[in-house]
Amino acid sequence: MRMYDIIMKKRNGGVLSKDEIHFMIDGYVKGEIPDYQMSAMTMAIYFQGMNDEETTELTLAMAASGDQMDLSGIAGVKVDKHSTGGVGDKTTLVLAPIVAACGGRVAKMSGRGLGHTGGTLDKLESIPGLSIAVEPERFVRTVNEIGLCVAGQTGNLVPADKKLYALRDVTATVDSLPLIASSIMSKKLASGSDAIVLDVKTGSGAFMKTTEDSIGLAQKMVAIGTLAGRKVVALITDMDTPLGHYVGNALEVQEAVATLKGQGPEDLTDVCLTLAANMMELSGLGGYEQCLAMAKQSIADGSAFEKLCAMVEAQGGDARVLKDPALFGQAKFTGELRAPAAGYVQHIDTEGCGIAAAMLGAGREKKEDDIDMLAGLYLAKKEGDRVEAGEILALLYTCEEEKLDGARERLAACYRIGEEKPASLPLILAKVTTDRVERYDV
Ligand code: URA
Repeated sequence: MRMYDIIMKKRNGGVLSKDEIHFMIDGYVKGEIPDYQMSAMTMAIYFQGMNDEETTELTLAMAASGDQMDLSGIAGVKVDKHSTGGVGDKTTLVLAPIVAACGGRVAKMSGRGLGHTGGTLDKLESIPGLSIAVEPERFVRTVNEIGLCVAGQTGNLVPADKKLYALRDVTATVDSLPLIASSIMSKKLASGSDAIVLDVKTGSGAFMKTTEDSIGLAQKMVAIGTLAGRKVVALITDMDTPLGHYVGNALEVQEAVATLKGQGPEDLTDVCLTLAANMMELSGLGGYEQCLAMAKQSIADGSAFEKLCAMVEAQGGDARVLKDPALFGQAKFTGELRAPAAGYVQHIDTEGCGIAAAMLGAGREKKEDDIDMLAGLYLAKKEGDRVEAGEILALLYTCEEEKLDGARERLAACYRIGEEKPASLPLILAKVTTDRVERYDV
């Protein structure tokens, strides 16, 4: 078998066999297939797609490419959550502590930034001292002791995704349904949780721009998870506008902390509570409404915030920054974006916001790039807000002054301001389970 022939077959619209998929994944992980051939393959998959059998086979081959986590040492139902990626999406930092505070067991494997979207691991690493490399034994012990651990793919867990993820990030091959489904589900299967809540983002800041495509992706992932014997539900949530007001790593941790203290923005709080209640319901902690009430209570009584502090400490981080956010420090340079005219913010191109944040240093352009943890955006005005001419729409933060002008220009192009106040859409657009799709947007 030759990688060249497999690339050509997919480029020409062919259907790859199970053997070809395994040959390609095994060879790539062993370093026998180079990045440039895999880049050509991911681009071929991007354009030609994959059918359900190919996507399932790709997922299984990736999940089997390294070790599988053994979570049997954790008592109770182990629950995980994964987002398909968004801008300002700091939900894990809020909902994992909530679920743990309510008695759930959150064993979460997170990722880095991808394309224009941020990643939980990068956000966590903005906390001084915190390590996302948690060895399996310590991972199990931490979940048993405090109810949660959010780690990276340690050692040899899904090495196929580790390599492919970094490659797709810099080759414009992220937003492909089979590549997203296999990337997410291979990690979820290998990391061993019993129950999984998928947060499938939809809209201008998501990889799936329409609700229909998002439902299609959700159905594929729910089917793969169910086939592998896991309890899976997917929520389709709005990413047509950034979640919360902050985009950027340390900035988002601070907004997550505010949310856990009951002072977060309404959209972020509502999405986190809904996802958390679904994770708790799947964990068998009660009916949905009961779980939602428990989740709200964990914010009100401070127990969810205490769980985040405990997790940060267990992973070697300095939890003092959570109690006193000034300790994070501030980016050296701040820029302003002002409204060119009065009116209502009618739309914010959210992918563009993610790109502007990355231009400031909050994301990577090349695999080996370092991140400026303090860089990012504060979106003072969001969709539906009234602005006057010259009023501040957003602030831009960076440690490299020369990055400000280009990012400001990119961000300015994201805002559409007009006379009419836009209609607001629901934050949760649909729920996908094995046997049905419930829509809330029609
Ligand atoms: N999250 C992942 O883990 N993989 C993707 O491909 C997209 C989002």
